[in-house]
Amino acid sequence: MAGAETLLGLDIGTTKVAAVIGGRGPQVRLLGAASVPCHGLKRGIVVDVPETTQAIREAVTKAQRMVGVELEAAWVGITGQHISCLNARGQIQLPRARRQISWDDVERDMAAAVDAVSIPPDRQMIHAISRGFSVDGEPRIRNPMGLSATRLAVETHIVTASRNLVENITKCVDQAGIGVAELVAEPLATADAILTEEEEELGVLLLDVGGGTTDLALFLEGSIVFTGAVPAGGNNVTHDLAVALGVTHPVAEQIKLTHGCARASLVPEEETISLSEEEESSTSRRFVAEVIEARVQEIFRLAAQELAALGDRWPPPSGAVLTGGGSLLPSIAPVARDTLGCRARLGRPRVVSGPTELLESPALATGVGLVYYAHREAESPRAMPRRGLRVLPVLGRVIAWVRDLFTS
Ligand SMILES: Nc1ncnc2c1ncn2[C@@H]1O[C@H](COP(=O)(O)OP(=O)(O)OP(=O)(O)O)[C@@H](O)[C@H]1O
Ligand SMILES: [Mg+2]
Repeated sequence: MAGAETLLGLDIGTTKVAAVIGGRGPQVRLLGAASVPCHGLKRGIVVDVPETTQAIREAVTKAQRMVGVELEAAWVGITGQHISCLNARGQIQLPRARRQISWDDVERDMAAAVDAVSIPPDRQMIHAISRGFSVDGEPRIRNPMGLSATRLAVETHIVTASRNLVENITKCVDQAGIGVAELVAEPLATADAILTEEEEELGVLLLDVGGGTTDLALFLEGSIVFTGAVPAGGNNVTHDLAVALGVTHPVAEQIKLTHGCARASLVPEEETISLSEEEESSTSRRFVAEVIEARVQEIFRLAAQELAALGDRWPPPSGAVLTGGGSLLPSIAPVARDTLGCRARLGRPRVVSGPTELLESPALATGVGLVYYAHREAESPRAMPRRGLRVLPVLGRVIAWVRDLFTS
């Protein structure tokens, strides 16, 4: 299979690098995936370039072998607390002689919104996504193209990231011999694999509980209103267990995976678990669950703090959807429900084809989502997606891609 017929999603996580390959065509097809452990990142930030580079090379090579293809560029996810977002408005007057809104006008309007915000030199714009247009003062118009008007305004969602941290990720991908097709904020990519269109229309919070970060994406009325990440995840749970039980991290991780539960009250008080095969040391499973529950609550509290500015727009009617490896902790959903004060369900990546068993893991949600995101970009670069139009900052020039126009 030729590289041009395939797409590569690269999720460089705190615990692993996942490479997912999808096939192009009218419908996205997942063809293969590989996941390689990596300790080169902390809380989404590269701390070891050689280790990260090596893991990227290995994951991509494995996935390529599985599919029998060589790929030159990847859609690369970025996350971490340095990701931040803001919503900005742009407004333009339309020329008197020609009042029918054209693609050029939409592009100018989006550029006006981007110009309206000042992005500090140490930050880089990753996405500018249209959330809705207003045509001659009439709000909530999703696609203004072809309408006659004199004024066009757009509400955009702008995602920025630390320039240095983005450069460090890009350097690792580059040194692994792969080009960066596009950088994608991980919460947005993950949402593509997990959320349904209906949930996004009603309003929903996506929480990707990873190893070192928990990514957040909030959708209201079908468009993204918040993108961010809190610097805590499953690794913090493991660390707390290691400290509380006086064991090493690998032992604490094993205890978490085998006996972990996020709801202490569900664990019978008399249950004990062995801490070591050699020595006769054991602990109460209820105590283990208490340690886990405290940290999991803390993660959701941090997430809630990020969303505090939403006021009466919280909670979203569809509640929260949890994914990521950390969401595999038994009984995590009820803890999310109680701490966030909304419904909560677990979400696994939607897999239409391919090595289902591997791809359906919540840990692969971002990798799969990156392929879905890439597919939309690659297949219909001039159409309006259900998520709105995106403006990509490329070589200092704002290039806009409109996708799936009028399809939704
Ligand atoms: N069965 C399980 N039960 C509980 N926790 C689990 C389970 N499987 C994986 N985890 C936890 O999931 C976390 C890793 O999740 P994931 O692979 O989504 O993270 P990542 O993408 O590498 O990191 P990040 O998104 O923070 O950059 C680890 O902390 C791991 O202990
Ligand atoms: Mg992740």
